[in-house]
Amino acid sequence: RPRVLSGIQPTADSFHFGNYLGALRQWVDLQREHQPFFFIADLHAITVEQDPAVLRERTLRAAAQLLAMGIDPARSAIFVQSQIPQHAQLSWVLQCLTGFGEARRMTQFKDKSAKAGEGAASVGLFTYPILQAADILLYRPHYVPVGEDQRQHLELTRDLAQRFNSRYKKTFRLPEPYILKSTAKITDLQDPTSKMSKSASSPSGIVELLDDPKVSAKKIRSAVTDSGSEVRFDPEEKPGISNLLTIYSSLTDRSIAGLEEEYAGRGYGDFKKDLAEVVVEFVTPFRDRTLELLEDQKQLSSVLEQGRQVATEVAEATLRDVWQRVGFVAPA
Ligand code: TYM
Repeated sequence: RPRVLSGIQPTADSFHFGNYLGALRQWVDLQREHQPFFFIADLHAITVEQDPAVLRERTLRAAAQLLAMGIDPARSAIFVQSQIPQHAQLSWVLQCLTGFGEARRMTQFKDKSAKAGEGAASVGLFTYPILQAADILLYRPHYVPVGEDQRQHLELTRDLAQRFNSRYKKTFRLPEPYILKSTAKITDLQDPTSKMSKSASSPSGIVELLDDPKVSAKKIRSAVTDSGSEVRFDPEEKPGISNLLTIYSSLTDRSIAGLEEEYAGRGYGDFKKDLAEVVVEFVTPFRDRTLELLEDQKQLSSVLEQGRQVATEVAEATLRDVWQRVGFVAPA
């Protein structure tokens, strides 16, 4: 079975609809026909300042959310990045293959460092995409399900894999991004030309899966819509309504055309009220299930331990090859 791998940062108390529709739903779907490796990217989370107790708590909340949305530990290895030292070790080798200018071209770094202010961004934030390349290449996956914002990091990953393979010996598979066009970029409810983002969106622009469902419903009902009153999918002219149509369509598996037809002549109010109900129906059981899973820390730890063991086996084998090919002397 082809392998899939992906990761998510534990940088908020809850995942949001961008994470879910852009990536996590594909994780759940891909489990069946693939051999999946899914991890919580806590090493990436410390590229910006984190409170230790909060980071630990969020990592476990992330694990509980993955299980609640249907990641099945019997099919998928679910693990915590920092528990597999090979990620950081491979990252060092890849850093030594990356050009400074090449790293500087990463747009996510440019955005985030601009926000932090000149010189204030950490070196870790700069080398972040190279750690991500290591995360991926260690497991030699075929596909990496992510949102559009990760495409450039995937390109860097492929370049580095190719460079290592040609400089040393064929070691890494060139992974393909798996990005669903329809949900690749879910946008901010208050600013529908920008990505919904835990670091950049205002609280009312972002729907968190673990929000009180009443709060989420309210956010949907007060989402910014466009001029006019027609419920029509047109990302250029009607980015607000188009984003809501995308969310509606993917949560209900109904076609956009079918929804346009149903709301023809009915205006935005009705549409948003119905979507708010759809969202409540989705998040309510999800939230209950997550909170229930969080009660049983023993079970969570055992899932993560099982994932750690599966991941370790693969990561150790890859790193052994890499160390040997680079020219490091093996211990006696
Ligand atoms: P992160 O934690 O920011 O986001 C997790 C996933 O959610 C997707 N996503 C979105 N998709 C559509 N619309 C949005 N508004 C939206 N917001 C977020 C992201 O594309 C991502 O797939 N660097 C990664 C974590 C990572 C990783 C990896 C991913 C570390 N190592 C190796 C894949 C493979 C990140 O920060 O994702």
